[in-house]
Amino acid sequence: MRIDILTLFPQMFQGPFNESIFRRAVDRGLVRVNIHNMREYTHDRHHTVDDYSYGGGTGMVMKVEPLFEAVESIKSRAYPEDRDVPVILLTPQGRLFSQKIARELSQQEYLLLICGRYEGVDDRIKEHLVTDEISIGDYVLSGGELPAMVVTDAVVRMIPGVLGSMESVLEDSHATGLLEYPQYTRPEVYRGWSVPEVLLSGNHARIANWRREQSIMRTLERRPDLLESAELNKTERQLLERLRKSH
Ligand code: ADE
Repeated sequence: MRIDILTLFPQMFQGPFNESIFRRAVDRGLVRVNIHNMREYTHDRHHTVDDYSYGGGTGMVMKVEPLFEAVESIKSRAYPEDRDVPVILLTPQGRLFSQKIARELSQQEYLLLICGRYEGVDDRIKEHLVTDEISIGDYVLSGGELPAMVVTDAVVRMIPGVLGSMESVLEDSHATGLLEYPQYTRPEVYRGWSVPEVLLSGNHARIANWRREQSIMRTLERRPDLLESAELNKTERQLLERLRKSH
């Protein structure tokens, strides 16, 4: 997968993209990330990327020309002509990011992310340049850089081969529509707090059952809204009913 990111602050990406799982994915050639500075697509002496808002008001607006030029330049240099590459603007006005969207995006060969800055972007960018707008939550950040890192991280770890085993992706919180079950590692007892007995039993069927139950219980307690769309089998639905009644 190739990911291009357009930003006014390329330095912000240096830390997160050079560590851990992400770094390994790049080193193994599973993903290529190119960070582009929007200012390089301006033509005036001051490399202007923002301007006052027509109609007045405080706050600057990101200009339309540098973004169009940047996207067109990247497209012509880097993508096959016949490919409809998603051009995604990170903005609090976008559709809410989720594990499902991460999975969809992880199936793309190319992604182009635009980090919005200042108080907004010229709306013609939304109308005529981007194909999608994504928000990472109902709060406002100073720009789209952190959201672009969040989206990239969630997408890259779903590319086959990036994590050691695909199973850990399948069992993640949200992957099944439920929160993940509790996990423990050594020591077996710490300050008198023991690891649940079932996990030491070696009985794989019992362990699998217990984990599924715990997932459902956790989701019911913490994120009951997720249960509306979770995929549960008959036994699980019965368990949920019982838990709901005893709540
Ligand atoms: N830019 C500023 N806030 C944002 C958010 N919550 N999601 C995506 N982009 C943003």
